[in-house]
Amino acid sequence: STTEESTTPADAAGIETVTVVGAGTMGSQIAAVAALAGFRTHLVDIAQEQLDAAAEQLRRRFDRDVEKGRRSRAQVSAAWERLGTTTDRDAAAAASDIVIEAAVEDLTIKRRIFSELDAVCDPGTILATNSSNIVSSRVADAVEHPERVCNLHFFNPALVMECVELVPHPQTSPETMERAAAFTRALGKTLVTLRKEIPGFVANRLLNAIRQEALSLLDQGVADFEDIDAAARTALRHPMGPFELMDLVGVDVVHMIRQAEYEQTGDPESLPHPMITDLYEAGRYGRKSGRGWYSYP
Ligand code: 3HC
Repeated sequence: STTEESTTPADAAGIETVTVVGAGTMGSQIAAVAALAGFRTHLVDIAQEQLDAAAEQLRRRFDRDVEKGRRSRAQVSAAWERLGTTTDRDAAAAASDIVIEAAVEDLTIKRRIFSELDAVCDPGTILATNSSNIVSSRVADAVEHPERVCNLHFFNPALVMECVELVPHPQTSPETMERAAAFTRALGKTLVTLRKEIPGFVANRLLNAIRQEALSLLDQGVADFEDIDAAARTALRHPMGPFELMDLVGVDVVHMIRQAEYEQTGDPESLPHPMITDLYEAGRYGRKSGRGWYSYP
């Protein structure tokens, strides 16, 4: 109904306005999810070109969804009206009830962003990071109000994937957890709540176990990667095999995630598999670079 489209969601624990920091693949789709769910949403980036590119991609995605009958034109137009882009991060964040950081996976940068957000946001504003490998305690000690900090982890592509992981650090308040949970449900996502933090959380740790086994099978010459993917798709009914999925997520992202995990655990088992490092160094990042495990014309 039109009322539904013009008002903010009920049962979102008072959350009406959302800021997403970082207009990359994850950030732009998280912002789209929030706008579609009825939240007033600011998508922020330091680069105007990145915002323009994100808006262009979302517009194409929305058009496609309307064409395919997945969403109505009215739904998409209403979401578009609620979604603004800006390079003025602090103004957007200061006017928001939740800020979701989806910037580059660099601890120093994230800590700076969190301490700056902490300074401009009301203490009631939730500060969440979408990072899967930087647990929020590592940014929470850079702020004055750590009780409002948590991880809120979306999956790629965020417009499609149902799961969102909510992860507290030791000082995250129960109120923050309740409000972040209500917000996630209002997005229409399925909430997976962790009781405590661990790098990779639940889903990426499961994924990683499968990926490591797949790489080991390939390394041992047991089967070609195309066949390993086929087994995952047709015997396990995974939507994609582990190699296709690396190409979707980005070989560079997988490499970086393993590297970051190694820095946290010090366990050589955490290091990127040498075959991933080879692709990474060859610039074969997957879909985004035209070639990863597979080629994309
Ligand atoms: N953005 C938005 N929507 C997309 C999309 C994208 N990048 N890619 C596909 N879709 C949607 C579209 O609706 C598309 O239909 P359309 O092309 O007609 O508009 C629809 O999905 C179907 O797409 P395809 O026909 O191209 O392919 P599939 O049927 O295989 O679906 C998929 C694509 C949804 C990506 C599906 O293959 C899938 O679920 N794959 C597994 C994804 C996954 O496991 N993600 C988790 C990665 S781990 C992660 O994100 C954690 C992080 O920390 C790294």
